[in-house]
Amino acid sequence: MSNTAIVTGGTRGIGAAISIALKEKGYDVAATYAGNSQKAEEFTNQTSIKTFKWDVSDPEACVAGVQAVEAELGAVEVLVNNAGITRDGWFHKMDYEQWSQVIRTNLDSMFTMSRPVVESMRARGSGRIINISSINGQKGQIGQTNYSAAKAGVIGFTKALAQENARKGITVNCICPGYINTDMVAAVPEKVLESIIGQIPVGRLGKAEEIASLVTYLASKEAAFMTGAVMTMNGAQYIANG
Ligand code: CAA
Repeated sequence: MSNTAIVTGGTRGIGAAISIALKEKGYDVAATYAGNSQKAEEFTNQTSIKTFKWDVSDPEACVAGVQAVEAELGAVEVLVNNAGITRDGWFHKMDYEQWSQVIRTNLDSMFTMSRPVVESMRARGSGRIINISSINGQKGQIGQTNYSAAKAGVIGFTKALAQENARKGITVNCICPGYINTDMVAAVPEKVLESIIGQIPVGRLGKAEEIASLVTYLASKEAAFMTGAVMTMNGAQYIANG
């Protein structure tokens, strides 16, 4: 059976940690990226993980991208929908482009990336789809109406797709990371970030590797009965029940 995994946004931040963790578990990993070719090249040099460039919000690019990965590495067994962006700002100051870019990249990508892989997973009777949502899709966040809406949508998408594919050997799960030590979180204004860390009972930011280890569990054969689950990993900043 193919051991191919696609990790979108897989060359930086949480995605890079996921790509590395899956490679260490023996997967043939394809890490996608949208823009930063230099970072992607450095990532391949350091890890020997193959990178592929396409925009996850572009449906045709995703179909072509999945075909390119399958031609090189074989059928996709694991899809990690991790790519995401922020365009933070108060809603009363937000323009449509700020809204739309986040919805397209963070939510439309659930369709554009899952659709090209799910039919062959159903035909083979096996597959894993792991979606990265966010604490802010669960609780909302000042400055993130766009991001919170998209990430809440990821949760609903996960639950519905899990039910549709449960009898086909495919699991679909969702992880809601809290504030993790990545470039995305480092971009939060310092004073705001200080106050956010003060709200995390564990008293620190999370590590990308902590999220990655949960992804490798969900990708494993042992996780076959876990599907439609929404898992929080946020240092007890927000205790959600789904
Ligand atoms: N809670 C309460 N008040 C807040 C606040 C908050 N979280 N954030 C800002 N405010 C207040 C400020 O204190 C300020 O009040 P005063 O005028 O009385 O001082 C007022 O709102 C305006 O704040 P700013 O000067 O910061 O306004 P701004 O327009 O420049 O920026 C913002 C507003 C974009 C919301 C900015 O504060 C921000 O970026 N906040 C962080 C949002 C955030 O948490 N993003 C998460 C990114 S990481 C990620 O998304 C990964 C993940 O999944 C967790």
